[in-house]
Order: sequence, then C-alpha cells, then structure tokens
Amino acid sequence: MCSECQAIFTQWLGKCSSCGEWNTIVEQGIVAQSSSLLMHTESLDTHTISRFTTTINEFNQVTGGGLVPGSVILIGGEPGIGKSTLLLQLCASMIDKTCRPLYISGEESAQQVSVRAQRLAVNTTLFDAAFGTQADTIIQLLNTLKPKLIIIDSIQTLSSTQADGQAGSPNQIKMCSSILGKWAKDNHACIILVGHITKDGSLAGPKLLEHMVDVVLYFEGERSGSARILKSIKNRYGPTDEVGIFQMNDNGLEEVLDPSKFFLQNNRPLAAGIVTFPALEGTRVILLEIQALIVDSYTQIPKRSVVGWDPNRLYMIAAVIENKLKIRLGQKEIYINVVGGMRIQEPAVDLAVVVALLSAYLKIALPREIAVFGEIGLAGEVRSATRESSRLRELAKFGINRVITCTNIISQSIIPCNTINTCISLLKNL
Ligand code: TYD
Ligand code: MG
Repeated sequence: MCSECQAIFTQWLGKCSSCGEWNTIVEQGIVAQSSSLLMHTESLDTHTISRFTTTINEFNQVTGGGLVPGSVILIGGEPGIGKSTLLLQLCASMIDKTCRPLYISGEESAQQVSVRAQRLAVNTTLFDAAFGTQADTIIQLLNTLKPKLIIIDSIQTLSSTQADGQAGSPNQIKMCSSILGKWAKDNHACIILVGHITKDGSLAGPKLLEHMVDVVLYFEGERSGSARILKSIKNRYGPTDEVGIFQMNDNGLEEVLDPSKFFLQNNRPLAAGIVTFPALEGTRVILLEIQALIVDSYTQIPKRSVVGWDPNRLYMIAAVIENKLKIRLGQKEIYINVVGGMRIQEPAVDLAVVVALLSAYLKIALPREIAVFGEIGLAGEVRSATRESSRLRELAKFGINRVITCTNIISQSIIPCNTINTCISLLKNL
C-alpha cells in the first residue's frame, strides 16, 4: 500500500503510479490488511455517519448530506469565481451551533474578511476568522481553538518549515495539506481547502491534491454570467456528479431553488436554432437551452466554436450530419452555446444538437413546447438515454409535452426518432 495515497498494488514498485511518490509503497500483512479494511467499510457506512449540515441546501446536496467530521474537502475553481464568498456564507450557516467554524485566510487579513462578511450580511459572531500562511502556526491555533470546521483560503498561500520550496509549490501544497488533514482526522474535524485553478490548468497544485482528499468539489461558471455551479467530482461519503446551482448577486451567492426555471427563460425567443434539452445533473433533471448558429465561412478553415459542451463531440455530429443527410457543412461556421453557463457532459444531448443545427440550417423554429434528447452513433442511429421518465416528468412540469427521442416508453408525448435521417421531415412537419 502506498503510504502517501493508500493506493493498493499487487507487487512492490519504486514509484507509486497513483500519486507519483517514490519509495512510498510498503508491504502489508494480508491478515492485518483485511481486518483494517473491514473496519474501514464499517466506518464508511453512509447511514451511520454523522454530518454537520448547513442551512445551504444546495451545499448539503452536493456533499451528499453535509460535512463529515474527520474529512478533508477540496474546493477548486478559477480565481474570482466566488469560492471565498461561498465559504464565508457557509461559516454562518451551520445548523449545529456547537460547530463553530474557523476561517483562515492567507489572502486577506481577518479584518478584511469581516468587512467582506458584513457586506454579505453574514453573521460574524458565528465563526472565528484569522490570517495565516504558516501551516505550523496554524496547527498551534487549531490546538488552542479546537474548531470542528476549518476553512483554509487558499492552500496555495500556505507553507511549512517541514518542506522546501515556496508557498504554492507542489512540495508545500502536499506537506501543508497532509499536516492539516492529519490534524482534522485526529481531532474529528472537517477541513475545507480552497484551491485556485486557472482555465488552462497551468496551476497543477489542486490537481495533485485530488487523490489526497476525501471530497473534491469544483465551483464553476461563466464569470460574465451570474450562474455558479458547485459540482462533486469525488466523494468518499456520497454520490459524485451531484450539482448545486447558485446565483451571484450584489450581496453574495443565492441558492437557485428551481434550476430549470432559472436556465429556461419563460419567453425564450421563437427562433431557428434553439432547442430545449432535459439534462441529467447528478440526481436531478435541469432543463437547458441549446443554441446553434450556422453561417457561411470566408476563411480557409471554417470556425467551430462550442460553449458548455465538448468540441470533439460537435466535430463528430457535424460529420454524421454531412455523411447521412448530405448537408455540406464544410464551408460553414458552426457555433453551439449552452445558455447560462452549464457544462453538459452526457451524450444524450447529441440529438438536441442535431435538431438545433438542422433548425438553424433549415431556418425552421421549434415550438416552445417541444424538447429533444438522445445519443447519436456514427451510423446516424439514435439511442435511448438514461432516466427517461425523470426527464419527461421535469419537462411536463414546464408544460413541455412533446419530446423528440428514441425510447421504449409508449406515450402520446413521444415523437419517435430512431435515426437522424428522419429529423428533416420531422422538423418540416412540426
Ligand atoms: P470571490 O469569492 O472573492 O472569488 P474567489 O475566492 O473564488 O477568488 O468572488 C469574487 C467575485 O465575486 C468578484 O469578482 C465580485 C463577485 N462578487 C459579487 O458579484 N457579489 C458579491 O456579493 C461578492 C462578495 C462578490
Ligand atoms: Mg478567494
């Protein structure tokens, strides 16, 4: 077992292929190992775990029910996206008031933190704030205050005398988070580490931390827009791919209670190239608007641009349309936009993109009460998507009672589409 990251191997290796550390793999006695594993699985029973719940329901949902004592959580995100704002608000939202959080900032003084908290109308009497960049002195402070929830903003500002290198270097990031993580485990406290990530991923720090922590959350969104999405990427105590949706206002982050209503404008324009898609995000369905635009290109290599989706998937879809429907897209620029700043990762959006593209190409607007979903294969075939009935239910809530998809569900609302070859006649006859 690797003593750094607990990865298990069937043979000795000089370098751990999981965390990249040298000389950390140690042979474990089989008996000892299996009995310790047994204890682990017992203590990981999610029903018996006590958690610190918060009044921020979206946060509880993403973490799988609240913060687990003894766990380390990493919240990653681009600078300025709202991590500090979220965590300050979290500090004043603990339901169990015996859990008094300690907010340690390495970027702002304690006074700056409290000024910001006042601006956010966050009750500053409910938590302690401190400025600190030295992991070893922070540990002394933790030993004095014994907080049950600690927030470190950010891990890149910390350094320890036990490691070489400057604050923010991989060495320091690893050392500081392991010192703090050990304190949290020993003292049955929860620790939240903030990690800045730049768009191009050039700051490797938080990535290297992912295997060392119990929960990894990402805070995302288009900074120009107001929607902010908290996503769980890894969770040893709950489901992953769960999302929480927030809106950044003048006075901080506000929970979005009805995401579909938030992302789907009631009076979306009745224009060609716009399609409603019921996206599966964690355990819930969120209605999103997919927009497509096709224009003539005047350059050698026509532009293809995608916001909120995988560009490679667009190249594939465009190739299938060109091949199966004999529509020449080679001289066209193609733009796809998922409105509102959400990122779609599931293949069920394929058919929605095809219909949006065809709608834009043929200049036929789809009625508002029609939605589209389904995965597309290279032969142009449409496949059914997961959790169809949940999607239909969410659509019905918004009065969207006709759905273009491929499914076994027999319902009046379904407009069957088993291959993209039928899409053009479908659109023309809507
Ligand atoms: P911040 O929480 O400091 O981001 P991070 O810690 O991820 O770097 O958020 C900073 C941005 O949020 C800043 O650009 C302004 C905006 N903001 C608001 O729009 N409303 C607010 O109430 C606050 C506090 C910040
Ligand atoms: Mg910050």
